[in-house]
This record gives sequence, structure tokens and C-alpha cells, in this order.
Amino acid sequence: GADVEVDISKMQPGQLLRVEWRSKPVWIVRRTPELLDALKQHEDQLKDPNSEEPQQPEFAKNYHRALKPEYLVTVGICTHLGCSPQHKKNGAFEENVEGVKDGFFCPCHGSKFDMAGRVFSGVPAPLNLQIPPYQFIDDNTILVG
Ligand code: FES
Repeated sequence: GADVEVDISKMQPGQLLRVEWRSKPVWIVRRTPELLDALKQHEDQLKDPNSEEPQQPEFAKNYHRALKPEYLVTVGICTHLGCSPQHKKNGAFEENVEGVKDGFFCPCHGSKFDMAGRVFSGVPAPLNLQIPPYQFIDDNTILVG
């Protein structure tokens, strides 16, 4: 089938794993407590901080947008015109958003997303990054699809 089973047992804190699901890139990020805390610090700069937009799973309608907050699972395609945003970490994102250390930057027209895939204000992308359907088969395995 088109569903993808992903072994997350070897993921390091902060690591991003790329898989392909229905010809789309899906990113899985193991978020540290620091990365999760940081999500609360810039919510006034976001278009939709609580992710109320309807076209996504119910469990994504909150600040961390995940079944388990430790693991972000998102489609790595910019919601503007479909470019591939870059993962900028450990302070590299501060050149894009002052005071925010980690995030995703789209090189095509400068859209910016945080580590929950939430889009910042003042950029062309209209929506937060898409959250695909997925489930945990067990503690070490995510099924995307
Ligand atoms: Fe990402 Fe336009 S495609 S900003």
C-alpha cells in the first residue's frame, strides 16, 4: 500500500528524518523539551498559533500539532507554491526570525515556519505545514498514511 512504516528507535534528540509518502516528503523531528518550550515564546508572531485551520487531523489543532509532542510529523512542502523549506537549527534560524533558534525557511519567497510547522506572519505562505494522517504502531514505529 501507500502507507509508510518508519522506525524511529534510533532517532537522536533534535534529529530530522525524511521519508517519502505518496510522492511527498514527510519530515519526522524528535523535539527536545527545549524545542517544545520554544514553541510558546513566539506565538504572537504566528498567523495561526493554535492551528485552527480545518484541513488537518483533529490532533494537530493545538500548539505542538502532534499525537506525541516529542515527535513532529509534517509534510515538508511549503504551503505557498510548493518549494522545499530548509531545516535551520541550533541558532541558524535566528537570521530569519530574531530570537527563534530553530525553524524552517523556504528559499523561494521567504516563508518561515516554526518547529511545529506553524507559519510566521508577514510571509506569503497562507497556512501551517500540512500534518499527514499517521499513528504509532508501537513506541518505536510510526505508520504514515
Ligand atoms: Fe515557499 Fe513561496 S514556495 S515561500
